[in-house]
Amino acid sequence: MNFIIINLSPRRKGTSNMLVNYFADRIRSDANSVCMCDLYTYLDKMDILLEKIKDAESIVMIGPCYVSSYPAVTVKLLMSMANSDGILHGQSLYGFIQGGMPYVHTHVHGIRLLENFADDNSLEYKGGFIMGGGAILNGQPLEKIIGAKKMVPAVNNYIDHIINDEHSSEELFKKAMMKLPYLITRFLASVMNYRIKKQFAANGIDYTVNPYIID
Ligand SMILES: Cc1cc2nc3c(=O)[nH]c(=O)nc-3n(C[C@H](O)[C@H](O)[C@H](O)COP(=O)(O)O)c2cc1C
Repeated sequence: MNFIIINLSPRRKGTSNMLVNYFADRIRSDANSVCMCDLYTYLDKMDILLEKIKDAESIVMIGPCYVSSYPAVTVKLLMSMANSDGILHGQSLYGFIQGGMPYVHTHVHGIRLLENFADDNSLEYKGGFIMGGGAILNGQPLEKIIGAKKMVPAVNNYIDHIINDEHSSEELFKKAMMKLPYLITRFLASVMNYRIKKQFAANGIDYTVNPYIID
């Protein structure tokens, strides 16, 4: 089977890139060929990337969470895929999103985007995977992720579903996601807010003024 794994992050040595290599090492075999691509390399030559997508039977998108979804250029890729004749022909689509926040709800829009896209186009969405803590990992090996004991087997399980071209249930990543106790969440949020306010003050920004309200 032909697989294409696309890195949706602009960071060539970041966590998404590490995962692309991790996935490729496990999927590649005598029976399976893997093409690894960085979306940002192809932004001004999308035709080349589209041909590679056309040749694939399974598409795996791996990217960071940028403000609750994949980076905006992902939409450019999806629109190019939808608007070019013959690129999409029933391939399987898998989406992996990872971000700083250790929660499902802050990243889920990314995989919903791909699910809806597949529904509206000639693709078969076979399930997504959400992983928190990607920012702390910062491109280091997956085994170093906080909560690796649960997360690594879950990611491996997800890759097995991709290899077998079968659907992956959302229960897989929900069970693997670390659960922060309420008081620790409150403490971390307070520290983060304090630091952000300090940075605003240092740069002369009045954060009490709502930038979305125009007088
Ligand atoms: C512009 C920008 C927006 C981000 N937005 C979020 C976000 O909404 N939620 C989150 O959990 N992490 C967010 N992050 C953190 C990244 O998702 C995180 O660092 C990720 O691991 C980066 O992956 P990469 O190394 O593959 O680029 C953001 C980072 C950047 C640069």
